[in-house]
Amino acid sequence: MKHMAWFQAVLFFGVAGVSLTVAGCGEGGEGPIVAPPPPPPEYADKHMPAGWWADEKIIEEGRQIFIGAKNIDVNCASCHGKDGKPVKAGARDFRNSERMKLYSDSVWFWRISEGVPNTKMKPWKSKLPEEDRWKVMAFERTFGLKGREYDVVKKEWVPIGGATASGAAGTDGTATPAGGAPAPPPPAAKAGGKGAGGGK
Ligand code: HEC
Repeated sequence: MKHMAWFQAVLFFGVAGVSLTVAGCGEGGEGPIVAPPPPPPEYADKHMPAGWWADEKIIEEGRQIFIGAKNIDVNCASCHGKDGKPVKAGARDFRNSERMKLYSDSVWFWRISEGVPNTKMKPWKSKLPEEDRWKVMAFERTFGLKGREYDVVKKEWVPIGGATASGAAGTDGTATPAGGAPAPPPPAAKAGGKGAGGGK
């Protein structure tokens, strides 16, 4: 009987502990999902260089930065985890695509550059030139938004190649009124009857 009670207590607290862990730092881990604040004006027009979202070489260079292989003083993985699973409490979990899809490339870049006040996330702009900040972001986004790129016109993450900007680079803002359609499969987006002189 006594043993039973003892065992039950352990079980109870064990389970309570586990659920606390889940609530505190499990897969959502970081409290309710809230959209980040908008970037300050000096970052609002910064965007990933053309072609970099899909560039495996860039992504690999970003990984080297992320894990501290390029510069031992810059080791994002020491908090955010090599595989994207945070190893320091409170570090952003980039695997959480529900949250990360709320970050534009500009916000992401701003945060890497300037850090997040009153947190362990410090500014990196003095240690990382702009290019390196974009590279590390290109890698970081593979944890939760792999195969996606940020469409600066639609203001959402779309499958690579589907972005308005890269697809219709230069054309006069002919953004198709794809209003509320959430991420249509790429082939369907072929429609546009704009036979601009090409036979194909
Ligand atoms: C000392 C630990 C630590 C290191 C090293 C670190 N971070 Fe962070 N990072 C954090 C924490 C903690 C947060 C969460 C801040 C908050 O509460 O908004 C965070 C958040 C972020 C965010 C999201 C910001 C937001 O507004 O939610 C990005 C992006 C990010 N880090 C990128 C990086 C990159 C890139 C590096 C390496 C160059 C890096 N971090 C290195 C601790 C770290």
